[in-house]
Order: sequence, then C-alpha cells, then structure tokens
Amino acid sequence: MLTWQLWCTLLCILWFYFLWSRRRFYRLIFQIPGPLGYPLVGMAHKLLNKEDVLPVFKHYLDKHGSLVFSWLGLMPFVLASDPQLAQEILNSQHCVNKCLIYKAIDDASGRGLFSLKEPHWSAHRRLINPAFALKVLQSFLPIFNAETTSLLKVVDSLVDCGEKNLIPLMRSLALNISTQTTMGSEVNCSEYIKNNKLLEAYRSLLKTVTDMCLSPWLLSRTVRQLLGREKKYAKAKTQINGFLFKLIESKLAKGSEAHLETEEDKNIFLNLATDLVHRGIFTKQEVKNHSANIVFAAFETTTNTVVYTLILLAMFPEYQEKAFQEPRSLFPSTGDFEVTYRDTQNMVYLDLIMNESMRVLAPVPIVARQTMQDVRLSNGVVIPKGVQIVVDIFHLHRDKKVWGENAETFNPDHFLPIHMQDRHPYSFIPFTKGIRNCIGWRYALISIKVILAKLLRNYKFSTSFKFEDFEFVEDITLEFKTVPLLEIQRRNC
Ligand code: HEM
Repeated sequence: MLTWQLWCTLLCILWFYFLWSRRRFYRLIFQIPGPLGYPLVGMAHKLLNKEDVLPVFKHYLDKHGSLVFSWLGLMPFVLASDPQLAQEILNSQHCVNKCLIYKAIDDASGRGLFSLKEPHWSAHRRLINPAFALKVLQSFLPIFNAETTSLLKVVDSLVDCGEKNLIPLMRSLALNISTQTTMGSEVNCSEYIKNNKLLEAYRSLLKTVTDMCLSPWLLSRTVRQLLGREKKYAKAKTQINGFLFKLIESKLAKGSEAHLETEEDKNIFLNLATDLVHRGIFTKQEVKNHSANIVFAAFETTTNTVVYTLILLAMFPEYQEKAFQEPRSLFPSTGDFEVTYRDTQNMVYLDLIMNESMRVLAPVPIVARQTMQDVRLSNGVVIPKGVQIVVDIFHLHRDKKVWGENAETFNPDHFLPIHMQDRHPYSFIPFTKGIRNCIGWRYALISIKVILAKLLRNYKFSTSFKFEDFEFVEDITLEFKTVPLLEIQRRNC
C-alpha cells in the first residue's frame, strides 16, 4: 500500500514533468504581454459565456496591444489583431491546421474541408477547388435569381406590417440556395427542405456546436447525456447525415458522368465528388463530410451578411438611398428581374456597401489556427509548435490605428479607392486570406449581390434600433444579443 506521502511525491514529480515538457511555451510569457489568469484555468473562466468573448478580447487588446499571450486552461494561446501579423500567420505553412476548438465542428458535421488537417487538407482542397471556379458559380445565377424571386413574394406580405425579424426568412433562402448549388438543383423538390426540417436540424446542431467550442466538456457524449443535450443533438446529426447520404447514394447509383453535358455540370460539387468516389479517390463518408461542411459554412454567413447589411442601411438612410439608385439605374422597373453576372459586376457601389457591412460586422469574428512548427514573426517573436493562435478579425476591422478615427461607424466611403490605396492588404479579411481562405468567397459575393439588388430595388427598409445599441455574441458567426427588427415599405418607382 502506498502511503499518502508517496502519492503526493508522485503527483509532484508528474506535475514537474508536465511543466518541464511544456517549457518551450513559457518563454512566450516574456515575449508577448497578456493576462496569465489562474493556474490550470488561465483565462478560460472569462470565456465561458458567448456574450463575453468579444468584450474580453477587446479589453485585452486595449490593455496589452495587438498581440496578446494567455492560457485557455492548459492550452497556451496567442490573440492577434494586427494586419501584418495576421498576414504572416495566415500565410505560414506551419499555421494551416485549425485550432483545437474546431473539434466541435468535426463532431457535428464530420471532418471535412473546414477542419481537415495537413496533409489531407491541401490534397482535398485542390480536388474541390474546381467546384468554386467562376464558370461554375456563373451557372448558379438562375438558382440565386429564382430563390430570391420566391423570397420577394414573402417579403411582399410583410410590407407596412411593422418591424419584423428577417433572419428566419433569409436563413431558409440561404439554405435552399446552398443545398441546391452543393447537392444539385433536384434537392429543391425534397419534402425535407420544403417543410424546413433540414433548417431546423442545422440550427439545432449549430447551437450545440457553438456551445461545445466554449465549453469543451460538451464534446463528451456522456456529459451531453448527463446535461440532457445529447438526444436533440444526435437526432439532428442523424437527420442531416441521412439526408446527405441519400443524395450521395442516389447520385452514385446514376453512374459517373450521367447526364452531365457541360464542364460546369461536371464540376458542381456533388457531381465532382461522386466522380472522385467512382475513381476511388474519395470515400462516401468524405463526400458526406465535405457536403455538410460546405452547406454549414455557406448558409449562416450568407444569411447574416444580407440581413446585417439591410439593418445597417436602415440605420443610415443616406447610404440606402445611394445603394437603391444603382439597381434602379440597371433595372428601371420594380418587381422581378433577372440579375446577370455582368450586372453584379456593374454594381460597384454595392461593393462598397457590402465591404463596409462585413468590416463593421465581421460575419466570422474570429478564426483560429494551431502552430504545426515554430513560427517566427517579423516582430522577432517565435511562437512554438502546439500554440493556438486566434486571429481577431472583428477588432482588426474596427481598429482606429488601421481604419482611422471613424473605424467604429458605418461609412462605405472607407472603401473608396483613394482611402484603400495605402491600407495594409490584411486590414480587411472577412473571408480571411492566405493559404486557408474561404473557398466560397466569390460565391458569397455574387449570391449576396443578387439578393440585395432585388431587395433594395423593390423595398425601403427602416428601423428604430440604433447602431450604438448593438451588442454582439460570438457564435462562430457574429450574432446580436437583440436582433434589430426591420420595417418594410414598397418602392413604387
Ligand atoms: C459572407 C459569406 C462568408 C463569409 C464571411 C465566410 C467566411 C469564411 C472564413 C472567415 C473562413 C475561414 C475560417 C477559418 O479559418 O476558420 C471560411 C472558410 C470556409 N468557407 Fe466561407 N464564408 C462565407 C461564405 C461561404 C460560402 C457561400 C461557402 C460555400 C458555398 C463557404 C465555404 C467555406 C468553406 C468550405 C470553408 C473552409 C475552407 C478551408 O478550410 O479550406 N463560405 N469562410
């Protein structure tokens, strides 16, 4: 029998061994300022609440500068909110893997493009890239147009009905679009989509995923069971996986290259991916994971960007009026019209509006990586292998040193060429940049432009909510504590 003294000695030895094995992290304490927090906990206790994440980060960035070091439990982590450092991190071959909190996404939707690790990620990304080529995206314009036309009918019923929350409506539109463009337009007929069951399942999954990111103990199935969270989560997962597997099986059953006349058709994600299954390069499970990831990554970000842009324009009517004049000159009559790819390129003021919207309300406020090797930054700091790095896009986009005194207000002139020419190329990174940027960035810009052009041409939006009253929640995507409501009036000319 070991006495308690022996146990204590053993524990002390283990503890010192543990500290010794992590000695490479300690030099960061002297190189980068930041709060050390409590032993074993670090500053994790401050980040348990989704509403606290952005204010806590802001507090530390204001106090310690744009590079901060701290601990999340036993995990060393660096917070970066400076364009030059963001560029170096996002372009480093040693920062391609995602941070440990992305395990929540793996658990929910399977390890797909979003969270794959090297060397698999770069191989898969190369294989999937053709599904996001410009020609393929141009072939989606009929889907973007048709789905927005259906939306207009619903928005019409909300005219002069007081202030409304447009998020649920837009979520349904964005999910319809992203499933059709990823899995083929046949999904449009699926009852599962029509009766919003897929949307409900995705929402339910997303809720648990965001909670798991900040409360990693929820990654354990047993803990979820004990807390009564498992049943709904498992059901949503089963429903989404079942839906996707059914589509994949049906596409595989049709055989490779069936009915695919154009190069664009062949490159629609599901066609491209099932062809890779036929050739033994992808497994069915991998196709399912990638599909779930792409739809997951597409619909919430697109929804928020459209609605948040409308909210901002409602708060700043002078910019809404300018934004309205552009589609009005291209589409002289109200009602429905077809937006072509060329039209999207001609709406240049809308570019300024969308950029400014994604600057002040970054749709993905933070992204995170894990160093695979030591990374030397230009300020002399060496970040050792195994550190989690968080790039705080939200505060980078609102940094007065980068964007001037009016950084925290909405003004599309920030993006006039004259103001952009001297800005650091990484001062605006809503889709990130560098090695592992958003594969859907061009898709997002085109689809959002089609939706906004049709809405702004036909309706005028107003709100009683004030810009200064925004309160944010970090939910993987940026959410509001209180969603501003919008009042809609029809434009008659
Ligand atoms: C306004 C809309 C969007 C925004 C702001 C946005 C933003 C981002 C950001 C910041 C990342 C990097 C995440 C990270 O490093 O952790 C990302 C990755 C990704 N996005 Fe988007 N996204 C948008 C729309 C889309 C759309 C429409 C699609 C697909 C149709 C898409 C698919 C993806 C995928 C698959 C990844 C993972 C890429 C990889 O790791 O190789 N996104 N997105």
